[in-house]
Amino acid sequence: MNHQPETITIDLEAGAFSWEIAPGKQVSAMGYNGQIPGPTIRAHVGDTLVVRLKNQLKEATTIHWHGLRVPAKMDGTEEVQAPVQPGETFEYRIELTDPGTFWYHPHTNETVQIERGLYGAIVVEGDQEPTFDADRLWVLDDMKLNRHGEFTEPSWFLPRWLERHNGREGGAILVNGRLSPTVQMAAGQVERWRFVNAANAKYFRLSLGGRPFLIIGADGGLLEQPVPATEALLTPGERIELAVGPFAEGESFMLEALPYERGAGKGKQETIARIEVGEGKPSVATLSFPLRQIEPLVAGEAEPNQTVILHGRRSWKDGVDFTINGHMHFHGQDVPVGELQIWDIQNPSMMDHPFHLHGFFFQVLSINGQPPAYRAWKDTVNVPKGGSVRIAWLPDNRPGLWMYHCHILEHAAAGMMAHFRVVEQQDTFSEPMPVHGCLHEME
Ligand code: C2O
Ligand code: CU
Repeated sequence: MNHQPETITIDLEAGAFSWEIAPGKQVSAMGYNGQIPGPTIRAHVGDTLVVRLKNQLKEATTIHWHGLRVPAKMDGTEEVQAPVQPGETFEYRIELTDPGTFWYHPHTNETVQIERGLYGAIVVEGDQEPTFDADRLWVLDDMKLNRHGEFTEPSWFLPRWLERHNGREGGAILVNGRLSPTVQMAAGQVERWRFVNAANAKYFRLSLGGRPFLIIGADGGLLEQPVPATEALLTPGERIELAVGPFAEGESFMLEALPYERGAGKGKQETIARIEVGEGKPSVATLSFPLRQIEPLVAGEAEPNQTVILHGRRSWKDGVDFTINGHMHFHGQDVPVGELQIWDIQNPSMMDHPFHLHGFFFQVLSINGQPPAYRAWKDTVNVPKGGSVRIAWLPDNRPGLWMYHCHILEHAAAGMMAHFRVVEQQDTFSEPMPVHGCLHEME
């Protein structure tokens, strides 16, 4: 299984076009290379990815490589690069260091650009992958469309206020850019299903009509052992991998999103796709254990060296502002390379927030004081309302400007994001951090 490292060059053109989400149902979308999702990038650990982004939109854009351990300069935020203006190009160069399921999306005007379809998946294979009968990608999204199938643009105070407060959720649930598809599967086979949640705000509490499955992977690749489950929560930005099947010929069932109360209304049970099990085929699926080794970053108790408080407050202008440690667009303290980070993320607000750290994987130590169900490498984790999550992460030698934020895109835009610097050990007196364009403290 020795892999010769390759350089994979991909041209991505961000543009606006009309996209058929279902036969005869067009939306005026944005996407990469005229499709939603954008091309799936498949590569192997050790490969170098070169992406030439051409901006054919009427507005500036960037690409963030969600989950990839890129150098700070390639992170795609407006902190580390000038946004790519209409007609301009930019070249990203990234070495792929970790196997897993990742994704890419803009970090400019995200609430509009991602909602309209600018996102794509990245699958990085490692040297030791379990064998499945099929490897299926599910990029999930929800679009909020009006009666005429057009994106709504809330102009009135109340809808605008609500979208900012709750995040933008819509009723058109898409799998790989299509509305409620039917998926065929062979009887007797076991498939690997990789899920990406590319929605602005929707939580997908996944269920296979109650059928059991195995959770085998998270944001940063495989788990150590498969975890049997009948449902799995996937918050915006997160990935999860499941081993699904075998089923009997003639079976059919729905992949569903069960109601989940994140503090924005319970919602209802929704159908994501229909699965039809056809004629049987021999299976070659083999899972050998452990799937991989994940060394714990922390043994035993650990005292936090940072506290991150996710909160909201009333605003006369916009209804609500979202804050980190009391500030919109917070500037966090420097983090020295090599110093183990234990962060206590507290959420005294009345809504769940999916916390995303750029550029580094973390391990969840506890959720509301309890150890998590399994050890995994994560880059996004749900912080329950009125609760807390403790994480550990190790800043490896990639100094520069990084960020963390709520992955409900409207919350990030409304202030729930932070910028911080990873610094080389000696380099404590570095230049002041550039002031972010949308910094407007309300105090
Ligand atoms: Cu997927 Cu800063 O985000
Ligand atoms: Cu949030």
